[in-house]
Amino acid sequence: MIDQVTVEKVLETANSQIVEVVSDFVTLRRRGINYLGNCPFHNEKTPSFTVSPHKGIFKCFGCGEGGNALNFIMKHDQLSFVDAVKYLGKKFNIHIEEEEYSPEQLKQKNERESMLVISEYAGHYYSKSLNETDEGKSVGLSYFRSRGFRDDIITKFQLGYSPEQKDALTQEAQKQGYKLEYLEKTGLSIVRDNYQADRFRGRVMFPIHSLAGKVIAFGGRILKTDKKTAKYLNSPESEIYHKSRVLYGIYQAKQEITRQDRCYLVEGYTDVLSFHQSGISNVVASSGTALTSDQIRLVARFTKNITIIYDGDPAGLKASLRGIDLVLSEGMNVKILLLPDGEDPDTFAKERNEEQLTQYIDEHQQDFIKFKTSLLLEDAKNDPIKKAQLIQDIVRSISTIPDSITRSVYVKECSTLLKVDERVLVQETGKMQKKKQEEDFRRNTPRPNAPNQPAPQVTQPANAAPANPFELEEREILRFLVKYGEKMVNPNEEENKVSVGQYILHELKQDDLLSVNPIYNKMMDAYDGFSANTETPALKFFVNNTDPDLSKLASDLVGKEHDLSRIHQKFGVVTNADDLLSNLVPKVVAELKWKKVKIVLKEKRLLLQQMENEGNMEALLELMQELNTWQQVLAHISKELGGRTIV
Ligand code: CTP
Ligand code: MN
Repeated sequence: MIDQVTVEKVLETANSQIVEVVSDFVTLRRRGINYLGNCPFHNEKTPSFTVSPHKGIFKCFGCGEGGNALNFIMKHDQLSFVDAVKYLGKKFNIHIEEEEYSPEQLKQKNERESMLVISEYAGHYYSKSLNETDEGKSVGLSYFRSRGFRDDIITKFQLGYSPEQKDALTQEAQKQGYKLEYLEKTGLSIVRDNYQADRFRGRVMFPIHSLAGKVIAFGGRILKTDKKTAKYLNSPESEIYHKSRVLYGIYQAKQEITRQDRCYLVEGYTDVLSFHQSGISNVVASSGTALTSDQIRLVARFTKNITIIYDGDPAGLKASLRGIDLVLSEGMNVKILLLPDGEDPDTFAKERNEEQLTQYIDEHQQDFIKFKTSLLLEDAKNDPIKKAQLIQDIVRSISTIPDSITRSVYVKECSTLLKVDERVLVQETGKMQKKKQEEDFRRNTPRPNAPNQPAPQVTQPANAAPANPFELEEREILRFLVKYGEKMVNPNEEENKVSVGQYILHELKQDDLLSVNPIYNKMMDAYDGFSANTETPALKFFVNNTDPDLSKLASDLVGKEHDLSRIHQKFGVVTNADDLLSNLVPKVVAELKWKKVKIVLKEKRLLLQQMENEGNMEALLELMQELNTWQQVLAHISKELGGRTIV
């Protein structure tokens, strides 16, 4: 934890120099009071990425990404809040003192850090051994070169070589002061009572980087063709390396994945290298294992679009098809690229330049469901039992797709491909989904004779935020809050002067108008706590806010230049900014209330209809009275909106 005062200082400094922060990654040119450049978060040719030094925010009008300097760093380098603050602190020479850890936390943190330090050292050691020792150059470097890998690729991936000598690294590391304990814990050394040895010997080394670029493990390839030894040896699982959560190459690929909005998935280390060498760098490898949902979520942080590239061998392909349902269930769009027989991504990329490779992929990648359908259809053509199984199989894939529109598109296409009535497929998909829901439910419900089980957790998928029928109105109100919170609604009245912020808070609170969006409510609460005894502009408070939810929302709200003078034109009545606020603020609030009350009225009327059928006189009268009150409320709001007709 970093203390709050320091965080605020870092934020203020960084936001006031946001042009400098962004310029480390994007070439910016001055355009009026703002700066303009090519967006690093999506692929574009004409710049629509804007930085406003005076507001301390950035905004891309192409992809909608926006925020303050901290949000920029978090998004760009995929850093956590704390790491982004540390980065900015370092950049602007602000000393960051961290709060204390408990002894247990400290031990764990130190352990992880020591393991990371040793891994980094080992990375340097292997790379030096490859590039600077006779053995490394004649064995390792010449191996990479014989496979056609260029020096810039060898450097980019920090490739290395582990010497033949039994304990070369283990000895040298200890001589440099590194502890045997951590050499063992990272799996770099194998230690018995009277025995210390290197895990990796006489191999070319592929360091595996974390998302943040730290070396966390290694893969080592043998150089001889020895059928008895496994071709690759990998670091064991450890405190810093969980194989199922890592993708090889993600650190080197993440920016380009965002920019291209697509990720290529290949199998091996050398496949990744060859793609980079051909100029395509949005590529990662699952390192020969079945894809896990953690790995998919890692990709999903950067893009929803994934193309899985397979060697042209159909046997292995069919076996792995099942795993892809997992990718679909994460809401990703999956395409498949089948390479010609006998090729793997490595050999295939080596023979092609960027343009040829991109063109081949674009022309040959197929949508997954269609691909699976036609592949299996080939087998099942004249066998009704096989065909029935195939339909079940496809239906299972489709039913894992979370989005209903996408699902129905697939149902349509598959019904044509399979020559099966669409209604049958819809029915089957529904059944399958229901079955799955029941299974999930059973899994999450404690059995009666297991009293100590924790309560079932109701988890909502991240992408299933509730629809907000008042989105437009609420955002408009929040925009006034952020942009003009400290200005006066009624500057000309001597008494009862009230600020825009106070007015909005008071009006919404007195009617309990909470949003379904928790971040919107958080913004209100934050301003409530802040505004009582300060004159800091609301914009500054929000954009420099240490809560990234708030700073990001604030930048989004004011990012679009959409100012009073334009609203002025829309309403076309009032003349100066003060008058405008005193007119507009009550209007936007009333607008929200109008919409909310109308929905309440609609619900009550429906209820009334039901009750009329039931014939409970007392309840009916009570409800009618209630309806009456709401009608009056609506009439009142209508007056505020300049006499809007009530239908
Ligand atoms: N792999 C592994 N252990 C093995 C074999 C394979 O961890 N014994 C992983 C490696 O990450 C490897 C990937 O599975 O990169 C794919 O295996 P394979 O296709 O056999 O290797 P290639 O990547 O093609 O390696 P090379 O081109 O060097 O033969
Ligand atoms: Mn290969």
